[in-house]
Amino acid sequence: MKKEEIKITFQPSGRSVFAMPGTILIEAAARAGCVVDTPCGGTGSCGKCAVRIVTPENAPVSDNDSSALAKDKIDQGFRLACSFKIAEETTVEVPDTALFQSSHKILSAHGDADMEVQPEVAVHDVTTDSSQEECCSHSESISRALPEIMLSKTAKDQISNLTPGSRAYLITSGDTGVRVDTEEPKHLTGVAFDIGTTTIVGTLIDLQSGLDLALASTINPQTAYGDDVIARIKKCRDDEDGLAELTRAVRGAINGIIDELCSQSGVRHDDIFYAVFAGNTAMQQIMAGIDPSGLGEMPFEPAFKDQLKKPASEFGIKICPDAEVLVFPQIGGFVGGDTVAGILATRLDTAEAPSLMVDVGTNGEIVLSANGRLLSASVAAGPAFEGARIIDGMRAADGAIEKVFLADNDIALNVIGNVKPSGICGTGLIDAAAILLDIGVIDMTGRIQETDELPDGIAPAIIARIVESDMGCDFVLATAEESGTGESICLHQRDVRELQLANGAIRAGINILLKTAGINADDLSTVLLAGAFGNFIRRNHARRIGMLPQIPSDRIRFVGNTASFGAKRVLLSKNEAQYAAEIRKKTEHIDLSSDPEFQEEFG
Ligand code: FES
Repeated sequence: MKKEEIKITFQPSGRSVFAMPGTILIEAAARAGCVVDTPCGGTGSCGKCAVRIVTPENAPVSDNDSSALAKDKIDQGFRLACSFKIAEETTVEVPDTALFQSSHKILSAHGDADMEVQPEVAVHDVTTDSSQEECCSHSESISRALPEIMLSKTAKDQISNLTPGSRAYLITSGDTGVRVDTEEPKHLTGVAFDIGTTTIVGTLIDLQSGLDLALASTINPQTAYGDDVIARIKKCRDDEDGLAELTRAVRGAINGIIDELCSQSGVRHDDIFYAVFAGNTAMQQIMAGIDPSGLGEMPFEPAFKDQLKKPASEFGIKICPDAEVLVFPQIGGFVGGDTVAGILATRLDTAEAPSLMVDVGTNGEIVLSANGRLLSASVAAGPAFEGARIIDGMRAADGAIEKVFLADNDIALNVIGNVKPSGICGTGLIDAAAILLDIGVIDMTGRIQETDELPDGIAPAIIARIVESDMGCDFVLATAEESGTGESICLHQRDVRELQLANGAIRAGINILLKTAGINADDLSTVLLAGAFGNFIRRNHARRIGMLPQIPSDRIRFVGNTASFGAKRVLLSKNEAQYAAEIRKKTEHIDLSSDPEFQEEFG
């Protein structure tokens, strides 16, 4: 059964998504890439998630709107995104103030003082002296005026071509003078990358205003060599050309994203003067061309811990060739730059009460801030959440069942793109498992029950969806006639087992960190769900299937792609780069792979 979806358009980005009637606006916004801040956990009490409903005019006003928003705000069309239910085609204006981490917030969050736009890129007026006869000596006078700056060969050549008295502007990236222009440069830009095991996301940023200019993402082409980090490390270790091949693949994807960012924004490749990369340790090392084999064997140490800085040309990144590239510092094991970036973006280290951050992805990272300690661990959650290793699984793209819910004594589906379903993605998988567990179709051990074992009261339409197969029972989400592939789409017994493994790994990791800090799940004041996938998980379902501890929903907050946010902060401020280095030093790494308690918890 599939219901018609409704189009929702978000301004100012202009991005549109489709969602089922009754979808909460905040969920649709997350799918459109707008992570709305929810300080009260979406309970409708803080008023911070107010957005303006442009159409329909005079949208319905909920009780939460009336109590959290001033009357004039309501008259202007503002409604709480956490309470607003989609009922018809809707256009929404999302103000910067409602975003978890917008450009505006990058500039103004955390009391401003910590986040002035102060990038590693600067322009210096080095106009030549008309009385100077020999322009080649101009290099020397620049070196005297800017003693900390080394001039690249390109910059030196450009200076030697200047005529006496001509205007000249030297652009510096880090400690290198990378280019000389005779006109003041129009664009000073940089790129921030999140290199995920499965997805790579790049953002082009104006380094003067701090504003995003373009955003692009792609699948990490290394997935062709294995869908998790272990398979890729093995490839690097066992195959003579493995590392070179994987490095080439990821750099190719990065350069493809840069092409896309340039074509979206009209900025030239040569006008990008800085790049920052954040990813787990394996992804960062492979991108940097550093053998990750050490991560696959005792003592599971990364090849570097302090941030790496090199010219773009050495990394084969297609921006201004002498521009500096910074790779985030790494903590230990697989806990790498993306975790440092996540702590940086959320300021988890300054939380006053025990707080947990969980980045749900192929490689799951968990950080606990409690009793003055910052504890981190990574777990191999496997690619179940990304739809891989799930029999009818697919990524969250058009045709993916992204939501499953009960309606009219049956299940109903929400399919991305308003098309017939062709597979199920991670959120749909979690929904399906949680709902079937709730109504008793799946028992407490994770087994899909046969029809004669079901508890009383299950609707006939649901019973009819249970079919026997070689490996136990399957649950039909869409029949062959309903699907876009001509074959039925099922939640298979094996999928439930994959999900149990992924969940079990995350939950066991959380438990070990809580135990190490000497606290219980009840003591947690906040759980931050990070990562692109984290935005879409239904909190109650994540708890129902045991991925998250049983704490109230209002303590669980979505914080979006914190790896990208952290990378952007470092791109925009030297102070943030320094802060990232400090976070790295104060974060302890708990190695779960050799922890017998983890094996016990997980088992
Ligand atoms: Fe607090 Fe909506 S009112 S998140």
